[in-house]
Amino acid sequence: ALFPVILAGGKGERFWPLSRQNRPKQFLNLDGSSRSLLQATADRLLPLAGGWDRLLVITSSQIAQGVKEQLPELPPNNLLVESQGRDTAAAVAWTSLEINKRHGDDAIIGFFPADHWIADQDVFAHTINAAIELAANTAAIVTLGIKPTFPSTGYGYIEQGEKIGCFNDLPAYHVNRFTEKPDRQTAENFLATERFSWNSGMFIFRAGVVLKELHIHAPEIIEPLIQHGPDIYPQLPKKSIDYALMEKTNLTHVLPVDFGWDDLGDWNAIERLLKKEDSPNVELGTHVGLDTKGAIVYTNNADEVVVTIGLEDVVIVRDRNVTLVVKKDRTQEIKQILKTLQSDP
Ligand code: GDD
Ligand code: MG
Repeated sequence: ALFPVILAGGKGERFWPLSRQNRPKQFLNLDGSSRSLLQATADRLLPLAGGWDRLLVITSSQIAQGVKEQLPELPPNNLLVESQGRDTAAAVAWTSLEINKRHGDDAIIGFFPADHWIADQDVFAHTINAAIELAANTAAIVTLGIKPTFPSTGYGYIEQGEKIGCFNDLPAYHVNRFTEKPDRQTAENFLATERFSWNSGMFIFRAGVVLKELHIHAPEIIEPLIQHGPDIYPQLPKKSIDYALMEKTNLTHVLPVDFGWDDLGDWNAIERLLKKEDSPNVELGTHVGLDTKGAIVYTNNADEVVVTIGLEDVVIVRDRNVTLVVKKDRTQEIKQILKTLQSDP
């Protein structure tokens, strides 16, 4: 069995104004379903954990209360609260130390982002069981590789090496190189070789294996945590696990996977999820358009109508006191404009 950990400390700013300081992306149900992304993540991990006792969540103090409300069955002891976010390397180090303390070196840990969309739950479970088998039998840091469709600069890239065998019927490969968020040219070169996949952001390994690797490659994070405990958090370097460990370790393995995955990075993801063949726009709430096409229109006020004429490729979001109108190819810049606003209105 697995000790799944949900990484739930991110802000998801690119979904502003729907995501706000106290209501980050993982608390939203972007596809109009009744469960939030965080709840859906817990739903899919619980059968693999074999119950709430083995599921952990790590998040920041700002949103810990929201996590408790969304996951009322999570045992209080299984919610790790960071005094301030220090990115994912610190989160992985602290949680791995904690699970190691409670369950020993052979406990198999899986880290899962709180804000991803996964289409096929059965294939997902089959794949994670393969990852568990691989991690149990080798000193592997297991990654799940997604077939890339365009030269994204927002993902980690995994270069597939030699095949090492089959686990739960799935082929597993050694990884030659892990490159986090390459520039455009490098990403294009990677894609041309057909040897690379995208890193899904999920990692599976034994507690003893990851702690040893963190000692070697990220002592500046793991050693203070061991010496002083989580009180040292504000002094830890802010680094993601991808830069702190994955680009450096030689133990990385990859299982190429195909369960339908989207990391819901920005508003354009809504279109990939909800676009209907026969409709020119993607609409959540009421939109009346004349000659408008390729628009994503969101309003959560039932009394409200959004009316547009002659627009193309725009995102329009109405949420309480904020209206956002942005060209589809500039949604990444929401992060920037948020910095210029006095406070998150
Ligand atoms: N507890 C905690 N503390 N969680 C955090 C923190 C933190 O300080 N920062 C981020 N997270 C959570 C986010 O909520 C998200 O669920 C997950 O960790 C990943 O963080 P992101 O900030 O979304 O990472 P990314 O999207 O830039 O990159 C990662 O994911 C990609 C796939 O979506 C990398 O692993 C890439 O290599 C990968 O391709
Ligand atoms: Mg992400």
